[in-house]
Amino acid sequence: MPHSTENNVAAEQPVQDKLPEIITHPVPSRLLDSKQCPTPHINSMEQYRSMWKESVEEPNKFFGNLARDLLSWDKPFETVSHGSFEDGDVAWFLEGELNACYNAVDRHALKNPDKIAIIHEGDEPADVRHISYGELLRDVCRMANVLKGLGVRKGDNVAIYMPMIPETMIAILACARIGAIHSVVFAGFSAESLLDRVADCGAHIVITSDEGRRGGRNIATKSIVDNALAKEEAHQVEHVIVYQRTGSGVPMMENRDLWWHEEMEKARPVCSYEKMSAEDPLFLLYTSGSTGAPKGIVHTTGGYLLGAAATVKYIFDVHEDDVYACMADIGWVTGHTYILYGPLTLGVTTVLFESTPTYPTPARFWELIDKHKVTQFYTAPTAIRALQRLGDQWVDECDLSSLRVIGSVGEPINPEAWNWYNEKVGKGRCAVVDTYWQTETGSIIISPLPGCTPTKAGSATLPFFGIQPVLLDPATGAKIDKIDETGVLAIKNPWPSMARSIYQNHSRFLDTYVKAYPGHYFTGDGASIDKDGYIWIRGRVDDVINVSGHRLSTAEIESALSSHNSVSEAAVVGAHDDLTGQAIHAFVSLKPHANVSDGLDRELVLTVRKIIGPFAAPKRIHIVREHPKTRSGKIVRRILRKIVNGEHNQLGDTSTLADPSVIPSIVSQVHQ
Ligand code: PRX
Repeated sequence: MPHSTENNVAAEQPVQDKLPEIITHPVPSRLLDSKQCPTPHINSMEQYRSMWKESVEEPNKFFGNLARDLLSWDKPFETVSHGSFEDGDVAWFLEGELNACYNAVDRHALKNPDKIAIIHEGDEPADVRHISYGELLRDVCRMANVLKGLGVRKGDNVAIYMPMIPETMIAILACARIGAIHSVVFAGFSAESLLDRVADCGAHIVITSDEGRRGGRNIATKSIVDNALAKEEAHQVEHVIVYQRTGSGVPMMENRDLWWHEEMEKARPVCSYEKMSAEDPLFLLYTSGSTGAPKGIVHTTGGYLLGAAATVKYIFDVHEDDVYACMADIGWVTGHTYILYGPLTLGVTTVLFESTPTYPTPARFWELIDKHKVTQFYTAPTAIRALQRLGDQWVDECDLSSLRVIGSVGEPINPEAWNWYNEKVGKGRCAVVDTYWQTETGSIIISPLPGCTPTKAGSATLPFFGIQPVLLDPATGAKIDKIDETGVLAIKNPWPSMARSIYQNHSRFLDTYVKAYPGHYFTGDGASIDKDGYIWIRGRVDDVINVSGHRLSTAEIESALSSHNSVSEAAVVGAHDDLTGQAIHAFVSLKPHANVSDGLDRELVLTVRKIIGPFAAPKRIHIVREHPKTRSGKIVRRILRKIVNGEHNQLGDTSTLADPSVIPSIVSQVHQ
């Protein structure tokens, strides 16, 4: 079933490679000078190409060796890869047994207990904590015992709704240790969204904190949990464990709420770990799709952990003494893979950042890099663009000489932002890695490698090991071989860290990802490939909007808007935005007797904030008499998308609409 072209926005994406000049940047010579930097794990294109060739032609040999090299197994695997997209039974390292927590903590704590595992840079710059692998192991064991004491067993789900503090990592690792499936919910989600997720995964335990701290303000974390759990019949939660972050005195519900510190004090700092099958689920992470409720993406233990470790090793070229800093939130997949599992599995030091890029000043990131001698730094284009706008003085004042690799993720990076990042932050002496991946892919699938790949601003360049990208015609599913032609991006073969399912909805998983273009994994993104084989990601081709790297479903925002009394129908589209990548525009028609007050726009925005979370708030609300519709009554979002993107002179044939006369008024409203 080829993907509908109605939603194909490929033609609307910026055509970066058609710009007059595309400069190819060689690997900075400093990275290849052994007097200045450790020798990169991969330092020639020949080496990359031969490894990639082996990874796709002999995946069992390649990934079997890699899995034995990077991970510790309690029981060796015999079968490396198994199953197919067609049969929906992809599995890796069958028969193998391992524990993700043992791999991320114990084995390093046993060898080198004093090595720093986590540097926590708190909201206030002076608020820094260093946690060694030895300390981490003891605290993880204590929390694992607390959870066991509350009846949590292998295979149970535990929900985590916490700010960016080390205890969040301890909670996650404690789950992994005892074989419980962690389901972290981004702490920016509203009570309603939290409840949806907690109820869907059937968690009996929620772990949270009294409050969070961000940008000098306190964030009411526990009260959101209380609101989410208020309807007792709507979920199965029995206990809430509350970490005291600010000590602000939150109400505790008798028999349900437990203080983290009290439970930890009672618990023993030794706890054996569960031997997990490689295919046992490690975690769920809810993400937005084109339609319907958020999907609980299921990642399993062996393949996911291998993808996390291998990409940190090769794509960030991490070496033993490195300090790796990923600025993402732990509530999204980037935080899971690149704050926690990847760096810790390799036994390096990871930075956990609680604050914002501009608190107390726009020099925060750069001062953090100098303070902790960060070697790899990873952030999103939105943050880069925002800091670029605030002026060079903040970054110019910092040394940044510890950096070797700087990464970008979450949305297409425009060449201007890429160049600024390269020149101002990397100072021309670092590798810039524009890394493309998704919640579903588990780890990065397309990216340059620091020691070998020449880069082009705006291209994620070449596939990682085991990844065979292909471009398909959105309507026919036929393979596109033509240079620079945009198609939908699909992946030909299974790879170890790909998601295995949607929680309790395997058929939805198959329909969404592997049946759309039979024999392929469908990413939902458009892309083109240039003459050098470099991949240029063009953005989503489905109803997913990417605002500041936050992935949102238009359907979810529409359903939130429609819950307002006055709203008859809502259609949401993404408009290009110089700062946030995309911005949400909502077109709303009202019920006949709706009360149209001046404050209606604000009320509608508040409704979305309340139902989904502040990060989903529409930037513009357009109240319209009628949406452009087909004769069968379907809203034609393609037209709205063109209007908000300034392409109202290229709407194409509108004569098939039920009422083409609605368009001029919408155009004048948007562009008044
Ligand atoms: O559209 C792509 C965009 O982010 C989507 C995945 O979002 P999520 O699952 O939340 O994961 C974000 C972090 C991995 C993709 O479908 N995206 C991610 N990285 C890039 C990107 N778009 C362009 N270039 C990237 N480097």
